[in-house]
Amino acid sequence: MRVKVTVLPGDGIGPEVTREAMRVFRTVAEMSGFEIQFQERPIGGAAVLEHGSPLPRITLDACLDSDAIFLGAVGGPQFDSLPKEQRPETGLLQLRQALGCYANLRPAIAYSAIADCSPLRPNVVKNADVLIIRELLGGLYFGEPRGMNGNSAFNTMTYSEPEVERIARVAFEQAAKRRQKVTSVDKANVLETSVLWRKTVSRVGRDYPKVELEHLYVDAFAMHLIANPTRFDVVVTENLFGDILSDEAAVITGSIGMLASASIGGSVDLYEPIHGSAPDIAGKGLANPIGAIASIALMLRHSFHLEQEASDIETSVRAVLESGYKTADLARGKNTAVSTSEMGALIEQKVADILHRRQAYHAV
Ligand code: IPM
Ligand code: MN
Repeated sequence: MRVKVTVLPGDGIGPEVTREAMRVFRTVAEMSGFEIQFQERPIGGAAVLEHGSPLPRITLDACLDSDAIFLGAVGGPQFDSLPKEQRPETGLLQLRQALGCYANLRPAIAYSAIADCSPLRPNVVKNADVLIIRELLGGLYFGEPRGMNGNSAFNTMTYSEPEVERIARVAFEQAAKRRQKVTSVDKANVLETSVLWRKTVSRVGRDYPKVELEHLYVDAFAMHLIANPTRFDVVVTENLFGDILSDEAAVITGSIGMLASASIGGSVDLYEPIHGSAPDIAGKGLANPIGAIASIALMLRHSFHLEQEASDIETSVRAVLESGYKTADLARGKNTAVSTSEMGALIEQKVADILHRRQAYHAV
């Protein structure tokens, strides 16, 4: 098998976490006998500096001509005053839209080895495993009309039934493979879009009688998510709620650096850690590459159907954490932290061991 992957390191800590993810990816590919053809392109601030646009044609063309895309992070304070069409974030939003990837999967897993890294009590977060499914192409992010009008400004929240239906199906399909429960999060006591959302999710749910469906208002859900995270399995919600709630879910895992994501459903799927570019710690070896590495696992699973290799990477992450290794964000002030590249090397070594052992076993 040969796969073509476009790599978009981006800004801030993007390039350094991308480097670690690629190292794990290369080793898994080499040992499992598939070939990856990488093509690297600029996005975000890096692309503005090089090409005057956060999503230049050469980047978009490469993305559209690949089997999967990996992205590090975009943004930085030096770009904050640029006009909107040149902001790094605009490049990412344009890419999502051009690809048509409407479903954003954000698993938040509380590894028990680092349960004490969360500011929440270990017994609250232990064993939490929530999959947030964020609608990625609708709502306030893309709704028209939008704009500024003298001293006022406006955005539009809009959803159509087909838009809600397709994301709801993703949620029920995922729940059917997990613990059979979907929580749909909305604000149906106030917003018309949420009334449509709730009605549509309920209708789709009737096609999945084995999956339990509950509806919660976003304010109440925000509280329950950190008060009692283990009660949730799959959570489906609209774009902005999902953006906010997935950062909140990161608190359960111990660090935003832990979270991976897959943006699927379009012409090419896009994988990225959910964290930002963290310019304050860029280049210092302080970034946590686990979210990026776990995003490669999601890519192997969803784009290449390499379930075994995907779970080998996840097992390696778990094992390295269980051995007590922590990056700076998890070690919180203690000087026992390993650097970004040390963490990448540890996970790479572990996954190589696992693959090697399995191959030796199959050889006898
Ligand atoms: C995310 C980010 C993006 C978003 C930004 C960078 C546009 O916060 O992926 O969660 O808001 O979707
Ligand atoms: Mn976000």
